[in-house]
Amino acid sequence: MDLFSQIEVTERAEVLKLRQELEEANRLYYVANAPTMTDREFDEKMRRLQDLEQAHPEWYDASSPTQHVGSDLTVKGEGLAVSGKGFEQVKHRYPMLSLGNTYSRDEIEDWLKKLPADAEIVAELKYDGLSISLWYENGYLTKALTRGDGQKGDNVIDNIRTIPSIPQHIDGLPTRLEMRGEVLLPWENFERLNREREEEEEPLFANPRNAASGTLKLQDKNEVARRGLTCYLYYMLGENLPGETHYERLEQARKWGFPISDAIKVCRSIEEVMDYIGYWDTARKALPVATDGIVLKVNNLHEQEELGYTAKNPRWAIAYKFPAEKQLTTLKSISYQVGRTGVVTPVANLEPIQLSGTIVQRATLHNEDFIRQLDIREGDRVWVEKGGEIIPKIVGRADRNEGMMECCNDGMMNDGMMYRFPEVCPECGARLVRVEGEAAWRCLNENGCKPQQIGKVIHFVSRKAMNIDGLGDETLTLLYDQGLVRNIADLYDLKKDDIARQERLGDKSADNILKAIEASKQVSWERVLFALGIRMVGETTAKKIARRFRSIDELQWATKEQLVGIDDVGPQIADNVVAYFLDEKNLEILMRLRAAGVTMEAQGEEPEALSDKLQGKTIVISGVFSQHSRDEYKAMIEAHGGKNSGSISKKTSFVLAGENMGPEKRKKAEEIGIPILSEEEFLEMVNGQ
Ligand code: IVH
Repeated sequence: MDLFSQIEVTERAEVLKLRQELEEANRLYYVANAPTMTDREFDEKMRRLQDLEQAHPEWYDASSPTQHVGSDLTVKGEGLAVSGKGFEQVKHRYPMLSLGNTYSRDEIEDWLKKLPADAEIVAELKYDGLSISLWYENGYLTKALTRGDGQKGDNVIDNIRTIPSIPQHIDGLPTRLEMRGEVLLPWENFERLNREREEEEEPLFANPRNAASGTLKLQDKNEVARRGLTCYLYYMLGENLPGETHYERLEQARKWGFPISDAIKVCRSIEEVMDYIGYWDTARKALPVATDGIVLKVNNLHEQEELGYTAKNPRWAIAYKFPAEKQLTTLKSISYQVGRTGVVTPVANLEPIQLSGTIVQRATLHNEDFIRQLDIREGDRVWVEKGGEIIPKIVGRADRNEGMMECCNDGMMNDGMMYRFPEVCPECGARLVRVEGEAAWRCLNENGCKPQQIGKVIHFVSRKAMNIDGLGDETLTLLYDQGLVRNIADLYDLKKDDIARQERLGDKSADNILKAIEASKQVSWERVLFALGIRMVGETTAKKIARRFRSIDELQWATKEQLVGIDDVGPQIADNVVAYFLDEKNLEILMRLRAAGVTMEAQGEEPEALSDKLQGKTIVISGVFSQHSRDEYKAMIEAHGGKNSGSISKKTSFVLAGENMGPEKRKKAEEIGIPILSEEEFLEMVNGQ
């Protein structure tokens, strides 16, 4: 292969990888509300992908993330905890686009210079929440749509009605009017919500945007109202609307009673725009809501129309994003923190520094590879950033040249010395291992390492597990230190006085805790299985395993093969389950739990065996089904004596395929010659005579 085509192959691979990464980041951002990539990283990757796609038009793909906006649509089964129903999906009258954005003031200048010389620009704050489209018909608020995938959105009207500043009815509005804007959770409410969640031991929201997004998708409008969302509107759409300019329309909207920001400003020169940016870069820190940049819009609506749109963005508007706040400080030392799952994280102890409103003195150094790649050493000047995440992080190191003269001895000593991660656990002294393919070092001494032991108990008592209220991290640490609770079984031996004599507790709390411990004995088998804290066995997996193996005795003898046959149980989870029962300490704990009266078997009837038509058959399910859900098909297969399996092999008897069966699976099945059955054929097979 010549050099040129080698570059092409690498670039092609990069395009595919970027598309995949951005798609996943979009999903985590919009649907799961748990972002893993910073906005900046996302934007940089997106830009790289755009450049590569532009250089290779032959690689065009309509489904590339460069061609569509991320989707927040609620997928069936997600976020539907309370009513079990999803939101109505409604097609947008006008597609909901996003804005082209940049972190560079030079690029803002370039954009401004390309506009007609006398063009007026409206500068606005870029609110960091989620976009909403409000429909007013004959003056009444009738729909409130999220952006969704840009073409259709979720109608979250009931939740939007909880926002006091959004008018429900206005006299004299045009017959059909659409107002677009941003829904936000003010800082104060966000912090209160996270404090409550901390007390309840629920996962914290990383930032107000995620909290607002999670809130807007709740099915319980009382809870939405309690959390206190707010809203700013920044765009009017419809036919025969008043005004010739964007600014006039916003002012009209303000008169009608819509919540419009006070920070909008008409600018008539580049200098005015730059002054606006400079001013708000600092002033925004005092605002009650989160902002992440500035939006510039061409004021004149005819000029807007002439400039038009690309597939994703209007050409008449652009966003400038403020860089995440970063500071340089000295790395005093590196310490190591052992997490509840045994992962050892290097932590930077810093010369304290003011960052985004708080004093930062500790920040994560991520993992061994990060420290090595940046060649970070104690005494270095390092960059600390507090982005959208809760925990500050080290993002870089300053040049070591300055100041080298004064500390040349240190420099000499350090030179050429490779950074070494500790070999043993700083908590228990056990040898650490680094699992292949993982960046983290782990302590495997689950039952003899303090943070892990306490972690297991904390998980066990948590609400979704055994729901033993009143035992927080601090109390459990005290009980651990006094040797009273070293593992989950010890909880059932606690005496009233053991609890009552602890700090901040008394007779009454002790009674309540003992009551909760007693009540936990009635918790169902599937939740007990989750509570045991077997690695990677989360709530859903525990449920699925508990349905297949209906008691601890059955599960104890389960083979890896059998476990892998369960939906969503991969070889790694199966290994963890098998390993759990091979550890004598675990068996002893289980014996004590059983003796204490904790539920160790399913209570209901066994699912009825319907026939043995699928006896000896191993079946793989793939795709989307219309007559029954995937889980129902899995249950049906088992009820007829068959076995579910996740991957196609020579042992597969047939594939039950719905719509959009994965192309890889189809190819593999065809290659090995495995029959592919449709839903109808399958139902005929099990239900027919
Ligand atoms: S105008 C067609 N103005 O930023 C233009 N957007 O990626 C529509 N945003 O989706 C957007 N503040 O959610 C506009 N003052 C503002 C904004 C704003 C925040 C959000 C909005 C949009 C995203 C741009």
